[in-house]
Amino acid sequence: MKIFRKPIFTGFAPNLAKSDAWIAASFLLFPWKWFQLKIGKNAVRAEQWLKNYFSVKHCFVFDSGRSALYFILKSLDLKPGEEVLLQSYTCVVVANAIIQAGGKPVYVDIGDDFNMDLADLEKKITPQAKVLLIQHTFGKPANLDLLLKLAKKYNLFIIEDCAHALGIKYNGKLLGTFGDVGFFSFGSDKPVSCGRGGAVVTNDDGFAEKLFEFQRTLPSAKLGKVLQHLFSFIIFFISKPVYNLGVGKCLLWCAGRLGLINKIIYPKEKRGRAVKFYPSLLVNSLATILLNQLRQLDVFNNHRREIARRYQEKIENKKIHLPNQEWGDVTWLRYPILIAEPERLLASAKKDGIILGNWYDVPVAPKDADSSVVGYQPGTCPKAERLASQSINLPTDISISFKDAEKIIKLINYF
Ligand SMILES: Cc1ncc(COP(=O)(O)O)c(C=O)c1O
Repeated sequence: MKIFRKPIFTGFAPNLAKSDAWIAASFLLFPWKWFQLKIGKNAVRAEQWLKNYFSVKHCFVFDSGRSALYFILKSLDLKPGEEVLLQSYTCVVVANAIIQAGGKPVYVDIGDDFNMDLADLEKKITPQAKVLLIQHTFGKPANLDLLLKLAKKYNLFIIEDCAHALGIKYNGKLLGTFGDVGFFSFGSDKPVSCGRGGAVVTNDDGFAEKLFEFQRTLPSAKLGKVLQHLFSFIIFFISKPVYNLGVGKCLLWCAGRLGLINKIIYPKEKRGRAVKFYPSLLVNSLATILLNQLRQLDVFNNHRREIARRYQEKIENKKIHLPNQEWGDVTWLRYPILIAEPERLLASAKKDGIILGNWYDVPVAPKDADSSVVGYQPGTCPKAERLASQSINLPTDISISFKDAEKIIKLINYF
């Protein structure tokens, strides 16, 4: 019976394992750990881990990728009207960070690989352009050879948005180390997750000094927010296996109503506004979960590659457009497919207990965000608009077994 089938999710805390839920529970249950909820050594340990991993001089952790980007841009001291070039087919919080740091977002169209289109980029560079934000969408490296050349030609500061790409190499070198600075996200649907977190890596000493100053004066997260994140781990861990039974759905709904689980994007952020409780430091309890996840990074990424390889080899439905084989062995955070009327496939999969992903169904996602307040004008990125209207993504995370992948492949081939 359908209700007893293991549910398959694309989002919903995909990397969450028993050990993460246990760490979260231990911080809530054991009084001697209450003193370490916010303060402790693990945020610094996470910075050290990332510094070693990337072989960089500096790393700073923050509450999220959006805060990391905000402080990078604040460090640049942008003047009114100075432009930050970013690709469309992105998340509204990226654009918010640009505006809140005093920059003007300029949206560049994308190519078939969901990354920035070079020809459109060159057309959109004006004398006010100061920063190039290079996104590696879904973990597919952008065309760095050409993008870096162009950035040099126009004297642009280069930021790599590696929110989807942790531990991924381009020409043998880790993404995040090509630009002047790179940032990462440890949000719940990212390559590794601690509920909410982000980091910046750089080799630039002067820049690092400014970031250090911002980090040093930043408040810790509010206790209510920390507890919400920790409860989320436990609630998701309990609810996911029994989701199809209805109990899980009910538990999630109740937890949401009671404010026990965190939101990925707050309603205010969808209207281009800042929330009052962020930016903040990355707290010790979440950094503990981050370290636990970072240790599994290679296992996660190898698994993603293997699941994606199966999709690539076995999806045969002619109505579906798959990523180009010539892109090689990409570590897809989510495996992107294109189909006319994606809603029909999403609905059909849902009936089978499979929740597929919809990143990104509009050029500045999510759909209920007001993209006009972050300066996106419809028609300016036609390819992003077209791909967004056809996008579906398949899960590649560690909770997806080979059997789950087979189910998804079967569903798609018979659709
Ligand atoms: C491409 C991209 N960059 C940056 C971010 C920001 O990361 P965070 O959610 O940690 O603020 C996101 C968030 O979803 C994203 O999709």
